[in-house]
Amino acid sequence: MKIGVPREIKPLEGRVGLVPEACGELVKAGHRVILEQGAGEASGYPDKRYLDAGVETVADAQALYDQAELVVKVKEPYGSEPEMLREGQLLFCFLHLAADEDLTRRLLASRVTGIAFETVADRGGLPILAPMSDIAGRIAVQNGATLLHHQQGGRGLLLGGLPAAERGHVVILGAGEAGGNAAQLAAAMGARVTVFDRLREKMGSMRELGANVTALYPYQDAVSEAVADADLLIGAVLIPGAKAPKLVSGRQVSSMRSGSVVVDISVDQGGCIETTRPTNYREPTYRVDGVIHFCVTNMPGAVPRSASQALSAAMMPYLRRLLEGWRDDPLLSAAVNLSGGELVYPALRDQYL
Ligand SMILES: NC(=O)c1ccc[n+]([C@@H]2O[C@H](COP(=O)([O-])OP(=O)(O)OC[C@H]3O[C@@H](n4cnc5c(N)ncnc54)[C@H](O)[C@@H]3O)[C@@H](O)[C@H]2O)c1
Repeated sequence: MKIGVPREIKPLEGRVGLVPEACGELVKAGHRVILEQGAGEASGYPDKRYLDAGVETVADAQALYDQAELVVKVKEPYGSEPEMLREGQLLFCFLHLAADEDLTRRLLASRVTGIAFETVADRGGLPILAPMSDIAGRIAVQNGATLLHHQQGGRGLLLGGLPAAERGHVVILGAGEAGGNAAQLAAAMGARVTVFDRLREKMGSMRELGANVTALYPYQDAVSEAVADADLLIGAVLIPGAKAPKLVSGRQVSSMRSGSVVVDISVDQGGCIETTRPTNYREPTYRVDGVIHFCVTNMPGAVPRSASQALSAAMMPYLRRLLEGWRDDPLLSAAVNLSGGELVYPALRDQYL
């Protein structure tokens, strides 16, 4: 199979679909791998590393899309990328189609077969999404803590507090991979943490993080009370493949203190907070009623070296299966979002048809 790895073009995105070591293994297995020149640069992998692994390079995206039978990339097609895809071609990357009707229509028009990383489900989890969620959860707290600084327009609070100064209150919606990592870091910093999830086992693992962590069921009143008191509110719920449920209204956001911060990680599935709108690293924040919002759709793009390494490792077992044939593989065929101009994934059919 001819596998193409294009350069990511989303603003300030630094990840690459496959690191050189992963490409080397695919070449040894008899596949041809084509890289768009410079695709690994921001992750610390110059073209030479790929060439040494037996990868061929091409100068531009069009040449890559023309040749590749399978395109492996990180983010959903952006800019003019949807129009470079074609019928019979396979696309393996994050797609997040529930949040983007225009992209969905353009990919349907291309008739490409798109398998989304975030809908690959195995052993009760989402193994390709998970490492990116781990990163996003930690970045949510790191960035949230910085946005609370006075110079950033925040309320001037040290998240962990200190003797004679109150602790910050971090409220997290969803205790999965992203929310769990956010809770872990916020708790370790010394913040007061309240996490909401519907599942008892998730609440249990959150409680084990320490006495400064409270895990609760998301009753509307309980969420409302916690949100009004939050210094940092983090959205991290997910219903796989579907639009995120809105758990916090605009009115509830306006009940937050001025200079407090919202980080909605689930923005890539439409966001779980009413005031969320997608941003990118070029202009990551905006304010609503004095509350700073950070809703970047590619948070792990800030740490491309770590993220590219983790993504390749998570993807490899499934990429190998895909190369053996996705049609006869129940796990992979269940992760197909669209093919030949048809929406296939049930949650997307429910949303769009
Ligand atoms: N913005 C980014 O750069 C970025 C990066 C990685 C992941 N994400 C997104 O973060 C979100 C979370 O991903 P994840 O891997 O942590 O998912 P996950 O499945 O591990 O966790 C989601 C959690 O939400 C809980 N949940 C679902 N509905 C709920 C509700 N109504 N109330 C309370 N809890 C509810 C689930 O029980 C689960 O524990 C996804 O939208 C994912 O795509 C975004």
